[in-house]
Amino acid sequence: MKVVSIVGARPQLVKLGAVAKAFAGTEHRHVVIHTGQHYDPELSDVFFTEFGIPEPDFHLGIGSGSHGAQTGAMLAAIDPILDAEQPDWVLVYGDTNSTIAGALSAVKQHLPVAHLEAGLRSFNRRMPEEHNRVLTDHCADLLLAPTDEAVRHLTNEGLGSRAVNVGDVMVDVCFHTRDAVLAAGERPELPAGIDPEQPFLVSTLHRAENTDDPELLAALIESLAGLPIPVALLAHPRLQAKADQYGLKLTQGSLHAGKPLPYRQLVAAVLASSGVVTDSGGLQKEAYLLGRACTTLRTETEWVETLEGGWNVLVARPDQLTPEAWHQVATRSAPTAALDAPYGDGRAGAAVVKVLEERLP
Ligand code: UD1
Repeated sequence: MKVVSIVGARPQLVKLGAVAKAFAGTEHRHVVIHTGQHYDPELSDVFFTEFGIPEPDFHLGIGSGSHGAQTGAMLAAIDPILDAEQPDWVLVYGDTNSTIAGALSAVKQHLPVAHLEAGLRSFNRRMPEEHNRVLTDHCADLLLAPTDEAVRHLTNEGLGSRAVNVGDVMVDVCFHTRDAVLAAGERPELPAGIDPEQPFLVSTLHRAENTDDPELLAALIESLAGLPIPVALLAHPRLQAKADQYGLKLTQGSLHAGKPLPYRQLVAAVLASSGVVTDSGGLQKEAYLLGRACTTLRTETEWVETLEGGWNVLVARPDQLTPEAWHQVATRSAPTAALDAPYGDGRAGAAVVKVLEERLP
C-alpha cells in the first residue's frame, strides 16, 4: 500500500509524528508532502527533528497568503505530485488550508482520500477551520474520527458509513512525550520573567477570530496581563504580527511573551504550570490529557469532552466578566474527579494504518 500524507501547519506535524511512527514498522510506502504553510523553524523543522520524522519527500514552500492565494498555490503544486505518485490513499490531517487543498487535489484526480481528525464541528461558520473540515469530510472517502461525538456529527450529515473511530493520534504523541519528560525530570524553557517553581499559567492565542480584530485582541491581552499570577504567553507568529500592527505590547503586567515551544518543551511547560488559557484546539486537549485546568478564549469548542467535569471552561470575552470572576476562573485548580478516556488509549497511529489497510479501495 502506498499512502501520501499531506501536511503543512504545526498541529499536522504533531499528528504526522504518530502516523509516521506507525508506518515505520510496516512494509507500506509512506510519502510525505509538506506544503510549507508553516515555515518558521519553531513551527515546522523542529517537529521533524523531535519526532524523528524523515525529511518530507516533497516540500512545496508555499508560505503565507490570503486563503484563496495560499490554497490555490497548494492545489497547483500538489496536482502533479499526486498524478505522478498514484497512491492508494491520500491522507489529510485536521482543518487547515493544507487539508482542504490536499483533499481537493486528490478527489479531482479520483484518488481515494482519508481524513484524519474527521467529524469535528464548532458550528461556527466564521472560522476558516470550520469550512476546511466540513468540506474535507464531504469529499473524503474514509473519515478517521477521533471520538464518538465526531462520528455522531458525521452520521448526522449522512456520512456515517464512511466513518470509523480510530481514537486521537494526539494522545499517542502527548502520552509518549509526557512519559519522556517525567522520566528525564525535564524543566521547561519559559519566557523571561516566569519562575517554573512558582505558580504560572501557560497561554497561547492565534485564532483569526481573536487576533484579527484590534479591539478584541487588545481586550484579551489586557485581561491576561491583569491576572494575579504570571502568564507564559507562547506567541504564535500570527499573534506577534498582529500585535505589532496594532501597536500592542505582548509583555506587560503579568504577561511574559516568548516564542512557540517545541512539543516536548510545551508538554514540560504544561506539566510545570498550574493551568492553561488558550484558543488552540490542540492545547485544550493537551491540558486535559496532562491533568491541568484549561480556560478557552472562544465561544465554543470542538473538543466538547474536555468541558465535562469543568476541566475546560469557555470564556470568549474575559473583559465582560468582573475582574474577580475572570481571575477566579482562569486561576482555578484542576478538578479532582478521575479523567475519562474519550480520546482513546494512545494507540491511534496503529489503528489508522490498520483501517487504511482494511478499507483499501
Ligand atoms: C493555521 C491554521 C489553523 C491552525 C494553525 C496552527 C488555516 C486556515 N489555519 O493558522 O487552523 O490552528 O495554523 O498554528 O489553515 N506566519 C509566520 N510564520 C509561519 C507561518 C505563519 O510568520 O511559519 C504568520 C504570517 O504572518 C501568516 C500568519 O502567521 O500570514 C498566518 O499564518 P497561516 O498559515 O495563514 O495561518 P495560522 O494562523 O498559522
